[in-house]
Parts: sequence; structure tokens; C-alpha cells
Amino acid sequence: MNSTLRDIYRNPIGRDILRKILLQSGRNEKLIENRIIGSIRLGWIRRLSFGRVDRGLLESVISLLNNEDTVQEYKANNTRAWWKEAVFYQVYPRSFMDSNGDGVGDLRGLIGRLGYLSELGIDAVWLSPVYDSPNDDNGYDIRDYRKIMSEFGIMEDFDELLSELHRRGMRLLMDLVVNHTSDEHEWFREAVRDPEGNYGDYYIFRDRPNNWTSYFGGSAWRYIEERKEYALHLFSEKQIDLNWENVSVREDISDMVRWWLKKGVDGFRLDVINYISKPKGLPDGSEIIGKLMGYTGVEKYFFGPKLNDYLRELRRDAFEPYGAFTVGETPGVGIEMMKLLTAERRKELDMAFSFDHLENPGHSRFDEYRYDLNCYKSFITEYMEKYSPYCQMSLFYENHDNPRMISKVDGDGKLRWILGKLLAVMQLTLKGTPFIFQGQEIGMVNKGFRSMEEFRDVESFGKFEEFRKVQGEEKAFRRILAGSRDNARIPMQWSKEPNGGFTEGIPWIGTGDIEVCNAEDQMGDKDSLWSFYRDLISIRKDHPALVYGDIEVTNKDKKDIFTYFRKDDSETLFIECNLSREAIRRVGPVPSGRRLASNYDESNEDLRPYEASVWITREE
Ligand code: NOJ
Ligand code: CA
Repeated sequence: MNSTLRDIYRNPIGRDILRKILLQSGRNEKLIENRIIGSIRLGWIRRLSFGRVDRGLLESVISLLNNEDTVQEYKANNTRAWWKEAVFYQVYPRSFMDSNGDGVGDLRGLIGRLGYLSELGIDAVWLSPVYDSPNDDNGYDIRDYRKIMSEFGIMEDFDELLSELHRRGMRLLMDLVVNHTSDEHEWFREAVRDPEGNYGDYYIFRDRPNNWTSYFGGSAWRYIEERKEYALHLFSEKQIDLNWENVSVREDISDMVRWWLKKGVDGFRLDVINYISKPKGLPDGSEIIGKLMGYTGVEKYFFGPKLNDYLRELRRDAFEPYGAFTVGETPGVGIEMMKLLTAERRKELDMAFSFDHLENPGHSRFDEYRYDLNCYKSFITEYMEKYSPYCQMSLFYENHDNPRMISKVDGDGKLRWILGKLLAVMQLTLKGTPFIFQGQEIGMVNKGFRSMEEFRDVESFGKFEEFRKVQGEEKAFRRILAGSRDNARIPMQWSKEPNGGFTEGIPWIGTGDIEVCNAEDQMGDKDSLWSFYRDLISIRKDHPALVYGDIEVTNKDKKDIFTYFRKDDSETLFIECNLSREAIRRVGPVPSGRRLASNYDESNEDLRPYEASVWITREE
């Protein structure tokens, strides 16, 4: 309690925490350098905040700071691995390809499109959940981990998908959702039917709720009449949090993971995996953090006390024997915590997704604003310097939980194709493993939904209600329009045919602007965004410096310009990007060397709006 803010900032995890708080409140990190602010002691904060920062919050911070491993050195990130070289592609199966005209994408639809993925140069597919589910949250609420959702097909279809992928030299990553199950899962039904039985302790039940809130709006607790108790659900009411303290839960999960690995799947993306360990006694969350983040309780469980132990155990018992790859979805985690999760010698995860770059500081996903790419530059520069020398970074802008990046940066779509190419250049030449979300390669954008009836996502409805109460209907609708996950979930645009060639039936959610944006047209056009992605993917394969080479960012303090070198013993590549929608002066002359890729025909003294090029400046 006697430590000053400056002391805390010196501790790597402390820095993560302070930066997260400053980022979220739109304040500058330099604040800590202020002499007076830096010398504030932790113990004073309670009084200074008039009690709003309570003892519980300070204790959460202290227990994070005391993580045993923060002072250790990490090994360099230079061992070879297929997942460092691979380009991943995320398939959201419900919206990828429908094979039987029921309006819902399915496994046979996906099998029929594997040729498309090969042609693009994809090495591995991350498949969002295809397990049996009542679909309260489109498959992220699993009813049976060993069965395929009937809308998507049967197990034989899955087996065929896996062998077809492997035959083409591609790998398969499944989605592993084990923070929670559906309330229709047999474990939960048993827990409710027989509280004293084998499954009675599989979930988190309490006599009284605490103040934690759900990500989809409202309290995180649901009253279970039969047990006369409340069950914790960080997500929808039908997604009940598993009790990881219970060793049988962990053993059953390991067993299930091994079952899939025996089938030959190559790895997993682990859904909200940093939330699995909840602290003893489930203490109330801080109201002040709740306001800042939009969710109450998160500081208690986003890096819970046993998280690292559970991950190590799962790796040892399930992933490691099969050489499986893991990437964790880890919202809220900063650079240092991410190192703890992914450093090779820690034997926890191979990689993780950070989300801090998806919104500008001080903004949340549901704000209407124009995203400034300079924030991406600062975020990624810091990760390139402090994280990627030790661990492998994941590179992405989009997934099924976020609006389209082009729409966030360039709302009116005037520079859509040029911007799409700029994003591609950065994603495929920075140091890390790229994850492309379906449709990103053809520049799909947000859908102009016209009314709430057109949405499908449980989160959109929950959030709409929450916003409506405070801000009124019109504003609430506009916020959902800006932030809804459905923006990314509209059907893949294959061609100009009805429904973009996605289905011969009525699609489960409305389709996008297929006339101006579809795969078929772009595949036949060598200047299209699709062709640009294909070319960059092959450039990445031909130049190991882009995978294993060092990265050096230059012009760090120059706004709108993002330049960096990638080099190894045999070559040096130079990447230059204009992050703004205006033409700007180049720093120095036009680079000498060969231009490998660019979103403009030739090079000028000026960098034109969103200009981006990859140069090879030294070859040996
Ligand atoms: C993260 C997933 O990506 C999201 O779609 C889901 O709603 C939550 N986790 C809960 O599983
Ligand atoms: Ca179907």
C-alpha cells in the first residue's frame, strides 16, 4: 500500500494495468511521468477517490503485481514452427457457404470452398464452433462437445472436412469453448437435477449474487429455481460458467480435447480462456472499473489466481502429447501478462489475441467515431518492440465479434479498396502470424441494417436494451449499428448471384453489397483486393525475412507515416505506409530497390492517401 504509482509503473504487470486504465479513459501514459501524480501512494488512492476505488480493487492490483514470474528474462522468439509461418483464415460456418438451401452455412458448403482457400494461399483454417448447440450465441453455447450441430451436418461431414483440408496441405484449428457450456448441456441438467450428485459442483452456484455484470447486459447471475441458488453466467443466461476449481471438470475437459486431437485436428483457439479462474469467495467488482470498462467484476477474473496453473495442466495433459497448437482469446490482457501466457518456457499457450488495438483509446465498440490508424501504429510498434522479440504475435483486425475494419476507418467507403490493400500490407508484413477473417480479403464492409428486426445477435439485443434505457431508442439503434457483431456475420459474398451465391434459400441474416463486392469478380481481376491478398501471401512465403526476420520501426514520432524494415541475413525489406486519407510528404527520397507490392501504380514524391508499398532494398 506504500508503493507509489511510479513504483507500480516500473513493475511490468503494473505497467499493463495502469496503461489499460489510461487507455480506456482516453488519457496519455505520460501522466505517470508527472512528479505529483507519480508519487501518489496506493494506500492514498482510496481517500483521494472519495472511496470509489475500494480496498478490494487495490488488493486485486497487488495480487496481480506479485505474480512470481514478472522479472524473468524470456528466450528469443526464433525457433521455427509451422504456426509462425502459416497464414490463418477464420471461417464463421453459419455465414460461409450453405450447401442445402436452408439458408444456414454448413460443413459441406465449406468443403466445397476449400479450393478457394487453397488458391488464396491459406495454410490453416480456424473454424468457429460447430458443436451441437441450441444457438443462443451461435454455437458458443455448447450442448454436446462430441457432436456436430445438426444445422451444420454430421460427424462424417466433419471427418471429410478434416481429411480434405489435410489432403490439400492445410491445417484445422477448432474453437474450444470451455469457460462455459450451454444450460442444455447434460452436466448442467444433472447439476440442477441432483445438486448432491457427481455434477452438482460443475458450475458456479451461490446463495446470493455479487455485483458482476454479463457481457450481454444485466446481472451475471441467473436464479435457478430447482436449486434455490444463482448460477454465474458471464455471457448469456444460457451460457453458464464452469467451475474450474473442480478437478473433475478439468479432467472431463482434457478428455474431450484429447478426443478431438485423436481425430487429427491440429490445434485450438481457446475462447475467453483468461476468464476461467475466478477468485475464492467471488468478491464484488469495483464500480469504478465497471464504469470504465462497461462491465463490472472483470478485474477479479481476467487474470485469475489459478489461470496459469490451469493452462499448464491442460497443455501437459491434452495439447502437448499431440503437438497441438493453441491460441488464446485473452481480452484485457496487456503485453506483460501476454508474455506470461505465451512465453515458450512457461508451457501455457503458443499465442494469444490482444484486442486493445480494435478501438481507439477512450472509445468502445459501440461508439460512433472514425478509427484513427495512428493508434494502430502506436499499439503495434510497442508490441513489435516489447513482445515480438520474445513471443509470436497474432495479427488481425477482424473476427466474428467486431465490425469490419474498413468501415471503422473509412465510414463513407470512398477509399475502400486502397484502404483494404493498406491493411493487407501491414497484416502480411509485420512480425507475427496473420489471421484473416472471411470476407476481409474481398473488402466486405458493415451492413446498413435498417431496424432492430434485422439483427440476429443476442449481444445486440441485450446492449440495445441497456442503451435504450439511458439514451433513448434512436441513439441506442445507432450505437448497435456501429458496434454490432452482426456486421461481420452477414453471408460471405461469393458472386453476383442472388444472396451473393451463399444460399439458394433464404439466408438466416441479410446479405451485403454483392454487386460491388464479390469473390468471383475479384478473382478474375488482377488488380482487385483479392488478388492483392493472394500476391502478398505468396510474397510472405517467398521471403522468410517477413516471418523470422527482425523488425525495426522508423519514424516513430511522425504522424501518419508508418515505416519499418524486416531483415534477416540474406535480405532487407522496407515497408512504407501512409495511414491518413490525405496525401503527405515522404520522409526522404523514393526508396531505392525493387517494389514487390503496392496499392498505387507508381511511386511519387508524395505518399498518396493510404498508400502502402513493400520494397526489397537488399538481396544477397
Ligand atoms: C468470445 C466469442 O468470440 C464470442 O463470439 C462469444 O460470444 C463469447 N466469447 C462467449 O463464448
Ligand atoms: Ca445449410
